[in-house]
Amino acid sequence: MTHKVTLIKGDGIGPEICEAVKKVIDKSGADIDWEILEAGASVLDKYGTPIPDNIIESIKKNKVALKAPVTTPVGKGFKSVNVTLRKKLNLYANIRPIKTYAGVKCRYDNVDLVIFRENTEDLYAGIEHMINDEIAESVKIISKKASERIVEAAFQYAIKNGRKKVTAVHKANIMKLSDGLFLKTAEKVAEKYKGIQFESVIVDAMSMKLVLNPEDYDVLVMPNLYGDILSDMASGLIGGLGLVPGANIGEDAAVFEAAHGSAPDIAGQNKANPTAIILSGVMMLNYLGETEAANKIEIAVESVLREGKYLTEDLGGNATTTVFTKAIIEKIENCN
Ligand code: NAI
Repeated sequence: MTHKVTLIKGDGIGPEICEAVKKVIDKSGADIDWEILEAGASVLDKYGTPIPDNIIESIKKNKVALKAPVTTPVGKGFKSVNVTLRKKLNLYANIRPIKTYAGVKCRYDNVDLVIFRENTEDLYAGIEHMINDEIAESVKIISKKASERIVEAAFQYAIKNGRKKVTAVHKANIMKLSDGLFLKTAEKVAEKYKGIQFESVIVDAMSMKLVLNPEDYDVLVMPNLYGDILSDMASGLIGGLGLVPGANIGEDAAVFEAAHGSAPDIAGQNKANPTAIILSGVMMLNYLGETEAANKIEIAVESVLREGKYLTEDLGGNATTTVFTKAIIEKIENCN
């Protein structure tokens, strides 16, 4: 069966890594019909918005998208394309698997955790204003409904994937009402899942624990902001942002994208590591039921990393994006 998928090229390193993931998926045997669209800085002048309506329409129609990163101006300018997409399509669960890969230098051997980040509210609701010239206020929204569905998603994932423990991360000692509601809701949901161990950890202590003993953690679930920060931090445990894929899942659509941003510092230099978007492609293929193609790609990526002959600069090598991608494609061809 042919799957129609929206492919969003993004900006910065987006177009380079997009080309890489498309080539890899096309070689894997998965039957994908791509609808390729642009978003971000490249379309801003043409459409007056970084996220033209045709993108939302295309994802609503196809139900599945693979998206490259898009730049968001800091402290001014347009609203984040990513946050807009997640809110408009109600993509409430952001899922980021973080694990060590043989051949990639890092301080740990056995990290294998999955972060479930609530994706639609918290301080990302975008409700902020100036009270006067010297005081700004941001509103943090936490609802029972959104907390419940993200914690449910984490437990369901744990069950389906043979995971043993779910850790809820919060700051309810200080934000007694908002994070208090998140924690109370998580505890309530956990009561239904007796077979899965449940614990809660305050976010500051969690940061230390993750750095000291990341092997102790399995599935982690948390509100939006903590998820954003801890998933970047956790990527540092396994060798960097170039390795962490992600999925944004909602009831009616799913958008797959790397955890990293548009990396303007290396854009256009053929230096970007496409692993994260390729592994996001693997998550997408599994979601679509294309498990054979997904496995083929995952094995190819793992074997190129393990052999260490063609690694991109962020992983200590000197292979270009193109060379690294070609090495993965060759592995896929060898197992076809
Ligand atoms: P970033 O993730 O783009 O880059 C952080 C550092 O990691 C940079 O040194 C970069 O070169 C490196 N890096 C990231 N991805 C890499 C890759 N695939 N290969 C090799 N090195 C890689 O974060 P930054 O600089 O904070 O954000 C840049 C822009 O991206 C901002 O405008 C931000 O808003 C946007 N962004 C977009 C996201 C998305 O579209 N989903 C997610 C995160 C940030």
